[in-house]
Amino acid sequence: MIRLGVNVDHVATLRRLRDTPYPDLLAAANECIAGGADQITIHLREDRRHIVDEDVARLRKHVKVDINFEMAATDEMLAIALRTKPHSICLVPEKREERTTEGGLDLSDATRNAFYARIAKETAAAGILPSFFIEPSRKDVELSKTLGAGAVELHTGALCVAYQKKDGTRLDKEWSRLREAVKAGQQLGLLVHAGHGIDYDIAPELRDVPGVVEYNIGHSIVCEAVFCGLKEATARMKRALQGKHK
Ligand code: PXP
Repeated sequence: MIRLGVNVDHVATLRRLRDTPYPDLLAAANECIAGGADQITIHLREDRRHIVDEDVARLRKHVKVDINFEMAATDEMLAIALRTKPHSICLVPEKREERTTEGGLDLSDATRNAFYARIAKETAAAGILPSFFIEPSRKDVELSKTLGAGAVELHTGALCVAYQKKDGTRLDKEWSRLREAVKAGQQLGLLVHAGHGIDYDIAPELRDVPGVVEYNIGHSIVCEAVFCGLKEATARMKRALQGKHK
């Protein structure tokens, strides 16, 4: 069964728009779980633009499924992860000016890579699964393995944009990049996850890329929830990942 992690940052973004006490993040997470979410994914950004520290502690305490903690590679975030002990961490690049995580980790700098390796080592030693959010390339999958990742989350953003734009040439290229990266991850014994930009149209097509064991999806689910609520929106995404078109 493919696992679905629902990214609830987008619910916290709604709360931030007016700095109101609602919508309640835990209640939202529980709706997703009632709809079949296997995991709740949260990204505590350095600027705390949506998820805040209190959310992390509260969700960790009360949520009954796995928590996937997306984090930038900083000492502060590492300390929070080690204290909170989520099921997994997902190391992501973070830029202040971006609207959302725009690309995978840049694995080209030896000093930075050494820090990623330390984060992987310390989290794994604490029983947390270290995952790296990377571009779907064999090279980055191999590097992630070398640096101690137990999982990779492959960035599907470019694929999803090509799909939405019906850009056939680009799409063929992105499907093969994804397939190739999944294969590399499997060969190296990594857990292969994927996410970013996945909507209800492309989700059923992802069945053609076997080997991905977990998807983390947020924006499209929260958008669908405007019409049907979070529980049903999550259930629809679970069905979509099983190959059922809306
Ligand atoms: N995975 C990672 C690492 C992300 O940064 C995000 C965006 O917050 C997602 C998955 C979910 O992306 P989307 O909201 O586009 O579904």
